[in-house]
Amino acid sequence: MARIAVIPGDGIGIEVTREVMRILQVLDAEMRLGLSLEAFDFGAERFLRTGVGLPPGQMDVFRTEFDAILLGAMGDPRVPDNAHAREILLGLRFGLDLYVNFRPCSPLAERLSPLKGKGPQEIDMTIFRENTEGIYGAIGGSFKRGTLDEVAIAEEIHTRKGVERIIRAAFKWASAHGKRHVALGDKSNAIAAHGLWLRTFREVAAEYPQIEARHYYVDALALQMVTRPESLQVIVTTNLFGDILTDLGAALSGGLGVAPSANLNPDSTPLFEPVHGSAPELTGKGLANPAAMVLSAALMLEHLGQAGAARRLSTAVQQTVAEGQCTRDVGGTLSTTEAADAILDRMLQGLRRTRT
Ligand code: NAD
Ligand code: IPM
Ligand code: MN
Repeated sequence: MARIAVIPGDGIGIEVTREVMRILQVLDAEMRLGLSLEAFDFGAERFLRTGVGLPPGQMDVFRTEFDAILLGAMGDPRVPDNAHAREILLGLRFGLDLYVNFRPCSPLAERLSPLKGKGPQEIDMTIFRENTEGIYGAIGGSFKRGTLDEVAIAEEIHTRKGVERIIRAAFKWASAHGKRHVALGDKSNAIAAHGLWLRTFREVAAEYPQIEARHYYVDALALQMVTRPESLQVIVTTNLFGDILTDLGAALSGGLGVAPSANLNPDSTPLFEPVHGSAPELTGKGLANPAAMVLSAALMLEHLGQAGAARRLSTAVQQTVAEGQCTRDVGGTLSTTEAADAILDRMLQGLRRTRT
């Protein structure tokens, strides 16, 4: 049995989580996966009511008693500084030491690519975003706040251990998946501390002679992603650069509505979530695409050793998008629930076909 903590969160996070729960429950019943889904109401509503984002002790419960966490999205206009999201989402990433933020980028269908003449063949890159350090370390603050002398400082932290383990994860994955090159994106020409990334990258690369190590300054890497995406297979980068490049990667894949992610550490409880946020302007309108969330659940099943079930989900998503049975952001006309119904139908058709 696999125990899964489900945190819908806020806004469209709640809407897409409702749909994926329904789909997972059917898949579980059909394939006897032994999933136990337990919901947790951590998010803005509870934070505004109680002042607590993640209750004390909860991290240990997730670490020791659960096999995975599935999260919708965090963000609510009533919490303008996003304090609850930092406490819950960044709290879980840091607290569970989930140092790999794994974000694959490839269009599910030719028409989803915004680049002329470039489709799923040319755009197929996997971004390894460092997830526990960098400028997200929260060192700094605002001094003389509210005065004309105010100074806001944010310092980055990069440790040899932290940098090495994410670079290693990228090379290891590239090697296991037959990739020919890994690209580093840093800013070592302007930020001296990023020299640690470049030195470590070269050292780790030397252990993988069959894989070409390519170094880019991150500004040039962003350009390369758009002008020559076919030249990129695996990208490894810092927390902040990874945040930005993965939204760019999502744009190359058809948008945030179809971009999944996994937060991983082989020794901890993994967390799966769409790359998108709570999209307040879409909330309550039935416009949110459930695909990114369903694909995140597929990544989760793969990690739980259920590769067959994972493929059922991702194939069903891909088919519905290819047929136009999807939400408006990816060229369809369906609502969130109708798009999830279409995925469910496709998934069940696939299962029946195998049985007969
Ligand atoms: P967002 O990802 O919520 O939205 C960005 C754009 O993508 C919007 O145009 C939105 O309509 C579109 N979009 C996002 N998800 C979609 C979906 N499933 N289907 C169709 N279109 C979709 O980013 P934002 O507007 O910058 O942030 C809104 C809130 O979400 C903020 O509070 C932010 O901090 C938070 N946020 C949370 C996460 C997370 O929980 N992992 C990620 C990003 C942003
Ligand atoms: C993401 C989001 C988060 C991040 C925010 C909500 C803190 O943008 O998961 O990409 O910056 O990591
Ligand atoms: Mn982001």
